[in-house]
Order: sequence, then C-alpha cells, then structure tokens
Amino acid sequence: MLSTIEWKNDNVVMIDQTLLPTQEIFVTCSDYKQVADAIFSMKIRGAPAIGVAAAMGVAIGAVKSTAGNTAALLAELDDICDVIGATRPTAVNLFWAIKQMKNLAYDNASLSVSQLKNVLKNRAIEICAQDISINKAMGKNGAQFIKDGDCILTHCNAGALATAGYGTALGVIRAAHEQGKHIEVMADETRPFLQGARLTAWELKYDGIPVTLITDNMAGYFMKKGKIDLVVVGADRIAANGDAANKIGTYSVAVLAKEHNIPFYVAAPIATLDLSLSSGEQIPIEERSTDEVTHIAGKAIAPEGIKVANPAFDVTPASYITAIITEKGVAQGNYKENLKLLAT
Ligand code: MRU
Repeated sequence: MLSTIEWKNDNVVMIDQTLLPTQEIFVTCSDYKQVADAIFSMKIRGAPAIGVAAAMGVAIGAVKSTAGNTAALLAELDDICDVIGATRPTAVNLFWAIKQMKNLAYDNASLSVSQLKNVLKNRAIEICAQDISINKAMGKNGAQFIKDGDCILTHCNAGALATAGYGTALGVIRAAHEQGKHIEVMADETRPFLQGARLTAWELKYDGIPVTLITDNMAGYFMKKGKIDLVVVGADRIAANGDAANKIGTYSVAVLAKEHNIPFYVAAPIATLDLSLSSGEQIPIEERSTDEVTHIAGKAIAPEGIKVANPAFDVTPASYITAIITEKGVAQGNYKENLKLLAT
C-alpha cells in the first residue's frame, strides 16, 4: 500500500502531492515549520492526512526542541500548535489532532523533557496507524451500499493520499473491490487543484481499480444517461445537523444526484465531525490563491489581472446526503441524533 506520510528517524516523510502524477518525490520535513508549510502548500492534503501531519508536526516540534525543562517545552508547544493551526481552516481534523497532542502534553506535564518528547512522538505515530484501521472499518461499513456492477462517481481525492492510507470514500470503493465486486469509478477532475485528475485517477490506476476520468461538468451528462449508480465523497468537516463541507463542486454533484435519484454518500471518520457547529453555515471556508484558477501547471489560462474567486470547499446540506459512513457505523435520517450517538 502506498505510504502517504511516515515518521522516519525523527523526521516526517511524505509524498509531495503537488508533483503527482508526473513525479513521485518524497519530501523530508525535519522541523515543524516545514510540516506547517507542507500542509499550507498542499504537499500533503485531505482532511485525515492533514490531521496526521499536524500531529506529527507537533511531535517533531517537541522532539527538536532545545527547551531545558518541561514548562518551557509546554510553552514552546503552544506556539508550535498556533503555527500549525494557522495553515488551513476548513478540515477540522487539523484542529482535532492539535487538540489531542496539546491535551496529551498538558496531561503529562509532570514528565521530564525527554519523556514528554517520547510520549508525543508515540502518539503521533499511533494517530497515523489508527487512521488506516479507521479507514478500513469505514470501508467495511460502506461497502454494503455498492453492488456488483455499480459505477461510482467520486469528487476530489478522498483516497490513500488524503489519509494515512486506504482512504475514506476510496476506502469504501476499495473495500467493495476487495470483496470481489466488479465496479467502476468515474472521477471528477476537480478544478482548480485537479485532485481528481492528478491523484484519484493515479491512485486507482495504481491499485488496478477501473477508473474513467471526466471533467467536472460531465457529471450531469453521465447521470442523465443512467451511467452512475451512486456517488461517494469524503468530507472536511461535518456539522451536528449532517451538513458536510467537502471540496468545491461537491454541492453541485449532490444537487445533480438528487435530481437523478442517485444515492449520495459521505464517508468520513468521527474526527471529521464538528458537533460544536449546529449547521454547515458555520463551517469556515478556505479561500485560496487566485493563481490556482488563472493558471494550470504554471501556464496562464485567463487574462492577466482578471478578478477571481477561489473558495476551496462548499457545504452540501444534509438533506442531499443519503447516509454518512463512519468507522463506528452509518448515520441516516435524523443526523442530529444519529451522529451524536456515533460520536459517543
Ligand atoms: O483541499 P484538499 O485537497 O485538502 O481537499 C480535500 C477534500 O476535500 C477531500 O475530499 C476531503 O478532505 C476528504 S479526504 C479523505
């Protein structure tokens, strides 16, 4: 299985996703600032992978610290968490992981500096390993919705690359494939960052799962033709009422799916739930650089100086979502009650 991110000799090693699919280059981050930059510049991306990177970023910040006592290390960790927390605003997994690491550090304030460094490093490695088991459990829970012969539409990349391994939406697809179901995937290219074309198509091809790449504006055409049996996507943050933020364009796919009576599933770990938000309206949406819209692979495709908008995510209202698949089970119907039950 492809390794997205790894703790290696007290460094954080990750595949540079901005260079895929043409170059498979692994970058080594030797301090927390490099990890923060990797998250910001999307060398690593996808909500669960961002969470793992954040945990490892805090751990590497601790391990490389020269603090002479635990109180000084804790003070340093506060600053490190602030830097990592300022990288990307939408995926709640980032804040979940930072909170996990910070709480762990403060709960162990009585340890020596070297003991605390070890505790944090081990927890980050554990968060990474757990993410893979969580995805496999999610895959099992979701595979029931995929029948032999189905064609599944997905948007963005919610695969091994977006997690520590296996994937969320692609984990569900992978699990169905492993069960011997003959399935086919249609991957939206996912403008402007092209996660579908560059990452999902690459990842599924790598694993031998049949995939057809389409541009985002082709989804309706294929739905109308009866080609798509279901949609499965990931999420970056799910509010208490089931509204789900995911890559820009997901909402349009959900509206199209509803119009064509096609089931629309969201697969995400419990760490992606943000039950402190009553609705998706409160989810912060990241606005990214205008270059992502005006340029493709460094080449300008729009007039210089043109006004551009580039929201990186949108929110799909719960009423468009057939079910939310998690590692702990599937929520359907009354999301407010059922998500709370799954989260406890
Ligand atoms: O901007 P990105 O590439 O980090 O956005 C990723 C997505 O929107 C994914 O669909 C989401 O994080 C789920 S990943 C398992």
